[in-house]
Amino acid sequence: MSTPCDSIRAVTWRNSLLYLLDQRLLPHRQIYLNFDKAGAVTRAIRDMVVRGAPAIGIAAAYGAVLAARSAFASSGSNWRKAFEADLAMLAAARPTAVNLTWALERMQRIIGNIQGDPEPALLQEARRIHQEDIQANHRMGELGAALIEQPCSVLTHCNAGSLATGGYGTALGVIRSGFAKGMINNVFADETRPWLQGARLTAWELVQDQIPVTLLADGAAAWLMKQGKIDWVVTGADRIAANGDTANKIGTYNTALAARHHGVKFMVVAPVSTIDPSIPDGSGIPIEQRPQAELLSLAEQSIAAEGASAWNPSFDITPAELIDAIVTERGIVLKPDAQGVATLFHKRTGA
Ligand code: MRU
Repeated sequence: MSTPCDSIRAVTWRNSLLYLLDQRLLPHRQIYLNFDKAGAVTRAIRDMVVRGAPAIGIAAAYGAVLAARSAFASSGSNWRKAFEADLAMLAAARPTAVNLTWALERMQRIIGNIQGDPEPALLQEARRIHQEDIQANHRMGELGAALIEQPCSVLTHCNAGSLATGGYGTALGVIRSGFAKGMINNVFADETRPWLQGARLTAWELVQDQIPVTLLADGAAAWLMKQGKIDWVVTGADRIAANGDTANKIGTYNTALAARHHGVKFMVVAPVSTIDPSIPDGSGIPIEQRPQAELLSLAEQSIAAEGASAWNPSFDITPAELIDAIVTERGIVLKPDAQGVATLFHKRTGA
């Protein structure tokens, strides 16, 4: 057993500023942008400078710190009104990942007791959200890797790694832990059209941490499974409904269908903050529509016939019956259903 590598951080707070690794430029350029206003953080989330459900939540929490700083500087003890308006703006940046509103609700919960400058207390809470996420990912890495019974090959979709979280990753956390234990021999990554999170981000992240990775076109996954080359599909999640239906990057549903057809196991790895118990099933999860240009062009070059339009949902819903295991930091739900998910969720809230 070696020690898992985890060298990348997408979100950091330094010298009173938020720094985000600009994921639009990866893998060719590694540039951190700094932020001192909540409005700019909102645009960075919407425009995919930072992406991945937990990383969006963490960036928004630091965005709330910046919102409080601006509101206190301009309005003194009446800072709460401007702060709340910025929180609403941050929450609307992307609709599907529930970690965004979850993190902002945590930030909002603590403002009641604050006297004077709100920044120190809010910064402490944002740092806590960040640290807890990394710890949760390590725990999920152990739990998910323990589900793998013999050295095997896995397929992942999109990027659910350090780049998409506070660090270590959810699906890539399981892959990091499983690889370090010698239980994962081969990692295949779907390129993940149209934004290419697999080709640009997952492949880069795994190469950085010396985990060999093989890319494939999304449409090749079923054929790879047919040849018996995949034992587990491991993905992240943007929102898990009360019955276990799971929203994740567009194409996850195809992968789950192909996995079930070929007898390949399907694992979803996500912190409890990704569970939304207020939504009974996947039909209630809002699905973000992204600009047509993401499909019609590549690297700002048009690639489609002029005059064609494009349909670009950013996420799809994988029904719970296609999922073999949901792995969270609080434990695993096998063959998820409403009862299994509720038991796990109540364990978290202590209810
Ligand atoms: O549009 P993105 O890149 O934000 O989509 C990200 C995903 O779908 C991830 O799989 C999900 O957020 C989990 S990240 C740990």
